Amino acid sequence: MTTALPAPAGPATRTPWWRDAVIYQVYLRSFADADGDGVGDLAGLALRLDHLTQLGVDGLWLNPCYPSPGADHGYDVADYTDVDARYGGLPAFDALLEQAHARGLRVLMDLVPNHCSVDHPWFLAALAAPVGSAERDRFVFRPGRDGGQAPPNNWRSVFGGPAWTRLDGTDQWYLHSFDTSQPDFNWHNPDVVGYFDDVLRFWFDRGVDGIRIDVAHMMVKHPDLPDWPYPADGSADYNSYAQNQPEVHEILRRWRRIADGYDRDLTLVGEVWVPTVDDLARYLRPDELPQAFYFDLLMCRWEAPAFRSTVARGLAEMAGAVVTWTLANHDVHRAVTRFGLIQPDTGPGSADVVGLTVRARGEVDVARGERRARAALLLVLGLPGSVYLYQGEELGLPEVLDLPDDARQDPIWVRSGGTEHGRDGCRVPLPWRAGAPVFGFGPGPAAWLPQPDWFATYAVEDQWTRSSSTLNLHATALRLRRRLASDLGGAGLEWLDVPGRQDVLAYQRGPVTVVVVFGSEPFTPPAGWGRVALASGPVGVDGALPGESAAWLT
Ligand code: GLC
Repeated sequence: MTTALPAPAGPATRTPWWRDAVIYQVYLRSFADADGDGVGDLAGLALRLDHLTQLGVDGLWLNPCYPSPGADHGYDVADYTDVDARYGGLPAFDALLEQAHARGLRVLMDLVPNHCSVDHPWFLAALAAPVGSAERDRFVFRPGRDGGQAPPNNWRSVFGGPAWTRLDGTDQWYLHSFDTSQPDFNWHNPDVVGYFDDVLRFWFDRGVDGIRIDVAHMMVKHPDLPDWPYPADGSADYNSYAQNQPEVHEILRRWRRIADGYDRDLTLVGEVWVPTVDDLARYLRPDELPQAFYFDLLMCRWEAPAFRSTVARGLAEMAGAVVTWTLANHDVHRAVTRFGLIQPDTGPGSADVVGLTVRARGEVDVARGERRARAALLLVLGLPGSVYLYQGEELGLPEVLDLPDDARQDPIWVRSGGTEHGRDGCRVPLPWRAGAPVFGFGPGPAAWLPQPDWFATYAVEDQWTRSSSTLNLHATALRLRRRLASDLGGAGLEWLDVPGRQDVLAYQRGPVTVVVVFGSEPFTPPAGWGRVALASGPVGVDGALPGESAAWLT
């Protein structure tokens, strides 16, 4: 935060491409495997780029593909300016970038600045260096309490257990907000600041169109590392000393200046989990992040008033910025499963304050979840702003809730002592072709996580042939959204009253009226709202929309 940066090139006058882009999130190891080792790779993605163009998205966000021991599947980075050989290395990355660009697809990298891997050369050097050395100061080492026996403070890791690990035979502990294998950087150290400037430039110079920033609110910790007053009953809590500290904004502004120094539109999209929308809006100030995910919808109950107030709150609090909508990602239960949860378990808690909501377990009605997820898609795609779609959501895949315990790999599963299943269930490799080995995921005999038999029902190739499939619903909606783009561009959103139907939500944007029926009773929109251009469920001859469905009227 100390080194001077060149003056930015100045604000672009055109509408930047990312303002209303739909970006497809590629969880690379589960997308498509070209070399048959059971793990997805860049060549596999390149072979399947047609899927993205057919779907009609504007670009892709690539989950971390850096060299990594893989303790958190790439979110433990050993080298920030290279690509893991198992994914094909930098040559495969360059080829992918070129092929994506040739198809008009933007490519976003994923940057992990809060922590690296224990295999990163800096951490190895820190371990080899003495207490108080410059090498150690790039991380957060502290002497433990009780003569070194106890952690330096009471902070908990997001993945469960203490946020500190002791160096064997010493009184020194290092901080890791996530897994033991992910030591947190010390962002008060100028080496760290300069290093990440270079990393950003490395990827921008290589041609990427933007960067998703992992836990963009976490880099800076309270300088005194004080104990956090967690609830006495041991339940999860948001530790404000470990995240959302004011200085984090300086880092993000610095990165914005770097991005604005290029003569093309680049975006930075933050993964920012903060207590209020007002907090989130601060990350979106004009000189800060262009985008940050608005996660509130993915935690929303399936009720019209809840969705309406969540959308309205986002639009109001982030007025002047772009709202970045999303209904799923690689950290949460898939939308079909979340929306289909009819009887939540009152099982063990979660170390992660949002984990309980976004990965709640219990009895799921898949058909109901599917109806609702399809409706939610149309709701979200009609809104002003950009949308991120997680791979497999376009297939309507449910979460795989019953993976065999010995197949689970998520550090959350390990650190919670097997009480929390974690995130493997939304990361099961995609089914491309029913009846093929590993459902066409790759030429190998097995995928890194076992795919259940019922994945056959969701295979991509089959879904293209069925006009009512969830995949075709996505493609049709994206085509229509694109066709209407110039009319929707500057259009604001106006809520429409639906007398007598508390369970129906309707809004108008430019030429489109979006209607969502949350309840199970059908609803016939007034004739003045237009004709059904697209619906998530079968429309009656009289124009009635079925329960738990949505439609776009034009
Ligand atoms: C973010 C990522 C998640 C990862 C964690 C630690 O929340 O989305 O997958 O485990 O950060 O990097």
